[in-house]
Amino acid sequence: MRVLVTGGAGFIGSHTVLALAAAGHDPVIADNFSNSKPSVLPRIEELAGRPVTLHEVDLTDTAATDALFAAGGFDAVIHFAGFKAVGESVAKPALYYRNNIDSTLSVLDAMVKHGVSRFVFSSSATVYGEKAPVPYREDWEFLEATNPYGQTKVMIERILTDVAAVNEGWKVALLRYFNPVGAHASGRIGEDPNGIPNNLMPFVSQVAVGRRDRLTVFGDDYPTSDGTGERDYIHVVDLAAGHVAALDHLDAMATPARAFNLGTGTGTSVLQIVRAFEAASGRPIPYDVGPRRAGDLPTSYADATRAREELGWTAKLSIEDMCADSWRWQSNNPEGFPS
Ligand code: WQD
Repeated sequence: MRVLVTGGAGFIGSHTVLALAAAGHDPVIADNFSNSKPSVLPRIEELAGRPVTLHEVDLTDTAATDALFAAGGFDAVIHFAGFKAVGESVAKPALYYRNNIDSTLSVLDAMVKHGVSRFVFSSSATVYGEKAPVPYREDWEFLEATNPYGQTKVMIERILTDVAAVNEGWKVALLRYFNPVGAHASGRIGEDPNGIPNNLMPFVSQVAVGRRDRLTVFGDDYPTSDGTGERDYIHVVDLAAGHVAALDHLDAMATPARAFNLGTGTGTSVLQIVRAFEAASGRPIPYDVGPRRAGDLPTSYADATRAREELGWTAKLSIEDMCADSWRWQSNNPEGFPS
């Protein structure tokens, strides 16, 4: 299928573009480089072994988005484009609601107008909120997020479900990611966050490569195996494969819209990640224990049954693979992608 990958120059998007090409699909990227760099494209093409078309477009621009679809001939859309920094969303809620929701509505309008009816959405485990029992299951109905970023995911899932219900033949997969980490085994593409990383793995890899002095562990008094926060880390290559599996499953879906957890079903603590990264990199990761971070949960991991049973997908790569592949990317690209 000819697949429009919005945000396809980003961390998860670029890995998914590679997986789509390898599976025989024809991926086309739309990105405005708000959280990625143009220099990723030649590396995607190098790894895909073929040219990949990229349109630089702001998807909140409805005219530009419509023109993209008018000329595109797309069979499906995988929608990654959106702002994703939890802390920034708390400080700038209106920016997050406008960007994430307007861009989605703009794409949906263009899809209806140009007869595209397959959609895979980059959602997040953050939609389960603080009350859902762990491991998280997709049939939990009371979706709520503890920050505006997560709320945009809750709202967009609702929008997609309502739009799919009234458009004949539409199929929408809502993919709820847990904690994406790692990098393509080549070390040529990987996670390249702007500024100081909010997330654990890129911060740890920047300590290992010497860009940061020390890690701060946000609390070690949680009711977990070693007192530090536990998360369901999933290798970005496994995550990309999950998107291809969901795309290939859409036409067989019994309902217009359906959520799927993309996780391993296992929780790993902060200190376990630190030790695994030290083993993978051979570098020490000095750290201090600081106060808990507001909004953090003690533990979060997936019930991954539905994706296994309905998509035929399971995560295959280990924490050791995630750390080794992350380190190969970071050590080969200490400053990330060239500006
Ligand atoms: C993981 C663990 C921290 C940094 C977030 C978003 C989620 C998704 C993934 C977008 C926690 C601890 C972290 C540090 C630390 N993003 N930590 N020191 O918070 O589980 O999820 O990123 O889709 O929506 O909420 O990921 O990597 O920030 O934190 O101790 O410098 O590492 O307390 O236990 P999180 P994270």
